[in-house]
Amino acid sequence: MTEYVKISTSAESEELKYMSGFGNHFESEHPEFPGSLPKGQNNPQRCPYGLYAEQLSGSAFTAPRVNNKRSYLYRVRPSVMHYPFQRADEELEDLIASIEEKEPTPPTQLRWKPFKLPEKCGNNQNFVQGLRRVCGAGDPKTRSGACVYIYSFNQPMIDSAFYNSDGDFLIVPQMGILKITTEFGKMEVRPNEIVVIQMGMKFRVDSEGTCRGYVLEVFDDHFALPDLGPIGSNGLANPQDFMSPVAAFEDVPNAHFEVFNKFQGHFFKTHQDHSCFNVVAWRGNYSPFKYDLSRFCVINSVSFDHIDPSIFTVLTCQSNRVGAAIADFVIFPPRWAVAENTFRPPYYHRNCMSEFMGLIHGAYEAKGDGFQPGGASLHSMMTAHGPDAGCFEAASSQSPLLPQRVADDTMSFMFESSLSMSCTQWALDTCEVLDQNYYKCWQSLKSHFTPGQI
Ligand SMILES: [Fe+2]
Repeated sequence: MTEYVKISTSAESEELKYMSGFGNHFESEHPEFPGSLPKGQNNPQRCPYGLYAEQLSGSAFTAPRVNNKRSYLYRVRPSVMHYPFQRADEELEDLIASIEEKEPTPPTQLRWKPFKLPEKCGNNQNFVQGLRRVCGAGDPKTRSGACVYIYSFNQPMIDSAFYNSDGDFLIVPQMGILKITTEFGKMEVRPNEIVVIQMGMKFRVDSEGTCRGYVLEVFDDHFALPDLGPIGSNGLANPQDFMSPVAAFEDVPNAHFEVFNKFQGHFFKTHQDHSCFNVVAWRGNYSPFKYDLSRFCVINSVSFDHIDPSIFTVLTCQSNRVGAAIADFVIFPPRWAVAENTFRPPYYHRNCMSEFMGLIHGAYEAKGDGFQPGGASLHSMMTAHGPDAGCFEAASSQSPLLPQRVADDTMSFMFESSLSMSCTQWALDTCEVLDQNYYKCWQSLKSHFTPGQI
């Protein structure tokens, strides 16, 4: 076998190519191997160039056509060539320690200052080693639930890959550019972009510097675009702005290549004698994708009152209860606020959902200070939340109420779940950035109650 290496492990400045569309049926061949996709069929007796055909199924074979997801990968060696799995307790010690839940989780409003970077923790760690679970609910064994993680890392994943057998990862970079290699090709993902790597897809994350960000994991189903109802056929996240990679591969025989796996909530590793990034061509509608949040077409009130934040949903993972999401990914992008005679910031709220918020950059409009990029907040089920005292006073006395820009140079987001999330011991104690004074931001809200005056 000729050695063939097209994917570099070092940083590259080349312009990466992508294919546009959400859930499209794509076809991609490495340009130096034309005809590597079988013509007219998926599984010929012998594949072009002597490749192996391997199907990756992201849905049940019998799922309705609209939900049916699968891709055929044409690879140098099949994925089955690996050694038995072992627990990855040693390599992922801190990650595994972080997934322990703390019972009970207090219903108090929770806010975290920016999560520590590896240098502050005294760690050198890669993307997988740098994952820490903040909160979660459900059980991957019954394929229902969601978890939220923070990642921070400063090391590349050398000769290794990771895949998740429990669900999909939606990754929100906050600091640092992620250089992601997948079986389907390469992606570069910057802060203000997101990337979704679905169940079973092997990937590696490298970077030129320190990185930090957020991860939403869902067990139930794949992320989908929300229905638009009366909005019509355009708006919010448009399908053409989702980008899947083109085929790229490396053929490194006799390598020692490690593959880490999350399975039934536990972490395992195996090794094999070749790189898993050996897919020369692929076709199908099950592929990783990225999305630039600045492409989001914001819809909002142009008359009066506050529209519910569901209007900002980028992607949703639906539960079996109609309209209730296992998790929505919601953003609060730069926009105009024009509603008249309206308290324009987010309303005071108690919700039958868990609301985890993060800040990529800038300053969130409902919290003057304390909510910082790289930090987070969690407002649990039926826990009251809303604008802080300064925000309320300013927004309720603003006059005249002219059209104004909101959230310029800012991108905050929310993972909103119909599940009741439990926090981990790490989030409540070990991470050391829990803000013990969060509740104080509401304590100076005054009574404006004036009997006899309407
Ligand atoms: Fe809320």
